[in-house]
Parts: sequence; structure tokens; C-alpha cells
Amino acid sequence: MSPSDKTTHFGYQEVPWEKKQGLVNHVFDSVAKKYDVMNDLMSLGIHRLWKRAAILHSGVRPGHRVLDLAGGTGDLAKLMAPIVGDTGRITVCDINAEMLKVGRQRLEDQGFIGNIDYAQGNAEALPFPDNHFDVITIAFGLRNVRDKAAALKSMQRVLKPGGKMLVLEFSKPVLPGLKPIYDMYSFQLLPRLGKLIARDGDSYRYLAESIRQHPDQQTLQQMIHEAGFENCQFLNFSGGIVALHYASKL
Ligand SMILES: C[S@@+](CC[C@H](N)C(=O)[O-])C[C@H]1O[C@@H](n2cnc3c(N)ncnc32)[C@H](O)[C@@H]1O
Repeated sequence: MSPSDKTTHFGYQEVPWEKKQGLVNHVFDSVAKKYDVMNDLMSLGIHRLWKRAAILHSGVRPGHRVLDLAGGTGDLAKLMAPIVGDTGRITVCDINAEMLKVGRQRLEDQGFIGNIDYAQGNAEALPFPDNHFDVITIAFGLRNVRDKAAALKSMQRVLKPGGKMLVLEFSKPVLPGLKPIYDMYSFQLLPRLGKLIARDGDSYRYLAESIRQHPDQQTLQQMIHEAGFENCQFLNFSGGIVALHYASKL
């Protein structure tokens, strides 16, 4: 197969490899301004609890240098900035300029100034030195990345030895009886909500489809291990709708 014949998934569609990132960027360009309100609506605010739980597991401390990858509108940065304090630094990195712009504006409006940097970059080839960060987080981002193995390797490279990496992501429901209700919600209600609020049902259909294409808990755990991380573990939240994977670098 020549490199130009390579394909990948964009939701349930099979698309040429080189087209996927542009399609993902289009989704987040389209939803950036309504992204926060949609998150609260879709999850009834529960995404805030998942994010708080992730930070509790992160081991972030004063003085730490943290990378919030695929940081989008900065929810995790907002939680971590007060913890790292004046002697630490958070770098919010995202491939999408519009998401970064909305996030930066929101954080600055809320007084988060001084210990947060913003960088536009691709998770597959992070623009940072080796062994640079104490903690790396990626929340609801890995699912959208075209080459997940490359992204995990890149994260492993920029994490300091002894550092911790956390992936918060939609996963596979494990609670008996939850799947049919969750499927109905995802494929019936979610695109309608997206159409009504963000004027974009297709992007929220992509959200539901991309969740179904994402590796399950055990597969992602194995991928994290194969990227060179150690002590790879995960916790299910909300019956497995979301999972927090965490690992360290020796
Ligand atoms: C669903 S949002 C998550 C935002 C934020 N982390 C949160 O939890 O609310 C996914 C983010 O991943 C970013 N993204 C997608 N592909 C990426 C890539 N290859 N490298 C870096 N960021 C990427 C998108 O631009 C978007 O901002």
C-alpha cells in the first residue's frame, strides 16, 4: 500500500490518513465558542467531577511543570494553576488555534494570568524538549488524535523520569444495562442538542461515533505500556462511560 492509500477512521467514516486532522480541526473550529456550555449540558456538569478526580490522581504539586495536552478551553489548566502556584508552570497545548483562543480568553477573564503558557502543537510530535514535564494530562483529547501510538510515545519522551501521565477519556460502559441507554442518548439526543445549541449536529454525531471507535480500557492500557510507560493502571468513572488511565516513567 502506498502512503497515500492509507486510511483511518473519522467517527464511522473511513477517510484518507492525511485528511483526518483537517476534519477534526473543522469539528473544533465549529464548536469552540459553544464548547463549554455544551459540555455542561451534555454531561449535566458531571465532566467537572471527572476532571477534578483526574487532578486528585495526578500528584500535581507546587512548583511542578505541567503539560495539559489537547487542553482546549483550559478546564484542567484552571484546576491545576492554583496548585502549581507561582513557582510552577502549566503549558496548555492544542493543535487548534480557535480552541486555544477561546480558552486563553476565558482563563484570562477569570484572572488566571502568570503561570499558564499556551502553545499550538500536534500531540503526535510535541514541540518540547525530552524529560521536561513533571505531569502530563490529556482529557478527552486522545480520541481525536490520528496516530495515538505516536502521541503516547511523544508524551513519554517529554515526561521527566519519575513523572506521571494521565489520560481522561470516554471509554466502554461496564455497568450491566447501561450500554443501550447510553447508545440512545449518544445517537438520538446528543446530535439534536448539538444542532440546537451549537448549530452543528454533525460534530456531535462525530463525538458519539469517535467514542465508539476509541480503544476500550484494556486495549488503551496496553497501548500506554507499549509507548514505554510503567505502572499503567486505570479507573472507571460513571460505570465506564469515562476512564482515567494513569502511568509513570521510570
Ligand atoms: C474534546 S476537546 C477536549 C478539551 C479539553 N481537554 C477538555 O477536557 O475540555 C479535544 C481537543 O483535542 C484537540 N486535538 C485534536 N487533535 C489534536 C492533536 N493531534 N494534537 C493536539 N490537540 C489535538 C482539539 O483541538 C480539541 O481542543
